[in-house]
Amino acid sequence: MADVPSTPQQPLPDGIVPEDIVARTENRWLVVMAAMLGVMMAIIVVTGIAGALHPSSNVEIVDPLSLHLQGEFVESNLGTALEPDGTATVRIIAGQYDFIPSCIRVPAQTPAKFRLTSPDVVHGFLLPGTNVNTMVVPGFVSEVRTRFAKTGDYVMPCHEFCGLGHQAMWARVRVVPWDNFAGKGLLVRTSCAKQ
Ligand code: CUA
Repeated sequence: MADVPSTPQQPLPDGIVPEDIVARTENRWLVVMAAMLGVMMAIIVVTGIAGALHPSSNVEIVDPLSLHLQGEFVESNLGTALEPDGTATVRIIAGQYDFIPSCIRVPAQTPAKFRLTSPDVVHGFLLPGTNVNTMVVPGFVSEVRTRFAKTGDYVMPCHEFCGLGHQAMWARVRVVPWDNFAGKGLLVRTSCAKQ
């Protein structure tokens, strides 16, 4: 190592690249990586703001072992309920390998609040083309608020791998005109069966 040449540009034996050239190349790549990071952060911020995607503002816990026995996620309380202020609250359980209820009617042009939890493992709840996209974690309540501008059907796939039946875990949200929705009984509201 004693005969390292003092002129940096002179090629070193055995194809070794001089130190200052290595440093310059690394600095260029640092700039490239910082720029990529900046672009990706900007995409996250812009799509988050434009699509109204945001992390939960609070943590809400629930006992996953007694969901079916007590509290807001008992079977008779699942599906869509109208609140006194005219908004809709949708309660759903995501379990291996079904959403309960599997077909949900929601009024259009109405603020809708989805509240979900899981009795077993982590699932995912996604309504393509909307801001609704959340993990459903046992022991916690996931809440997402949205408003459907148009009527129509959304298929909701589970998008967290949850076991062998994961790929078959699909359900449906049917957005109907407010007039078709108001005043219907709970069973009618939560069922997409032909009427
Ligand atoms: Cu439930 Cu994947």
